[in-house]
Amino acid sequence: MHPTHLYERMSPMSSPLLKRIATAARLLLFVALIPLAQAAEQAPKMTADLHKAKGVSCADCHGKAKKKTFVSADRCLGCHGPVADLVKKTAAVKPENPHDSPHWGPQMECTVCHRQHEKTVNWCNHCHVYGFKVP
Ligand code: HEC
Ligand code: HEC
Ligand code: HEC
Ligand code: HEC
Repeated sequence: MHPTHLYERMSPMSSPLLKRIATAARLLLFVALIPLAQAAEQAPKMTADLHKAKGVSCADCHGKAKKKTFVSADRCLGCHGPVADLVKKTAAVKPENPHDSPHWGPQMECTVCHRQHEKTVNWCNHCHVYGFKVP
């Protein structure tokens, strides 16, 4: 049974104060459920899932931070670098090397393209038409 229904059944709902408390409780419950809904949305396999399958832990990218946010290129390059090697790896990619553009050279933040918990982005295509498949 949905927990708010349970709550309604148990609440006498007689006074306006009780009603207000009930509304507040429902709101809190809703907010508490948002992370669950977000986790469900992540169901399709994302690059972070691929990493997990290869034994890369949350902490390998996020460190010990309680609040997990942005991950810097330095962290990625700890495993995928040095950057010169990465540039060499994709030197033959057509029509251009995504890791060495004339605009930013190899100095781009990796997650501009390689999002980890959502669909990856072909950033160059904001302006060009390149058929990159970003892993
Ligand atoms: C602790 C080491 C580690 C860290 C940190 C790490 N990775 Fe990885 N990454 C791996 C391993 C291991 C694989 C799987 C390699 C394979 O299968 O060849 C992988 C795979 C990938 C792939 C897929 C490559 C392919 O051939 O499909 C991409 C893209 C990638 N990582 C980007 C990143 C980015 C961007 C970051 C930073 C946000 C990052 N990685 C952080 C270890 C790491
Ligand atoms: C502009 C978008 C973009 C950015 C920024 C970017 N990448 Fe990539 N990356 C790509 C594309 C596209 C490919 C696939 C190239 C191909 O077709 O083989 C790729 C491939 C890779 C691979 C697999 C290489 C291989 O062939 O084994 C790794 C690992 C990787 N990127 C890591 C990184 C890291 C680390 C950074 C940051 C320093 C980074 N990328 C920044 C677009 C990007
Ligand atoms: C390969 C590196 C990598 C791994 C492994 C990884 N993350 Fe992330 N995480 C990121 C990046 C990069 C972002 C920034 C948003 C994005 O790119 O999707 C992020 C963002 C987040 C956020 C902020 C919310 C959001 O989506 O913006 C949370 C929470 C999070 N990660 C949790 C986790 C947990 C829990 C794990 C382990 C199951 C994990 N991450 C494993 C790289 C990683
Ligand atoms: C904000 C728009 C924008 C983005 C994003 C962008 N470019 Fe460009 N790029 C341009 C413009 C404008 C030119 C100049 C075009 C000209 O002179 O004809 C250009 C030129 C180039 C050239 C020179 C050859 C050519 O086609 O004229 C290369 C190579 C290139 N870009 C690669 C990249 C790569 C790789 C990325 C992604 C990492 C990227 N660009 C992202 C706007 C952009």
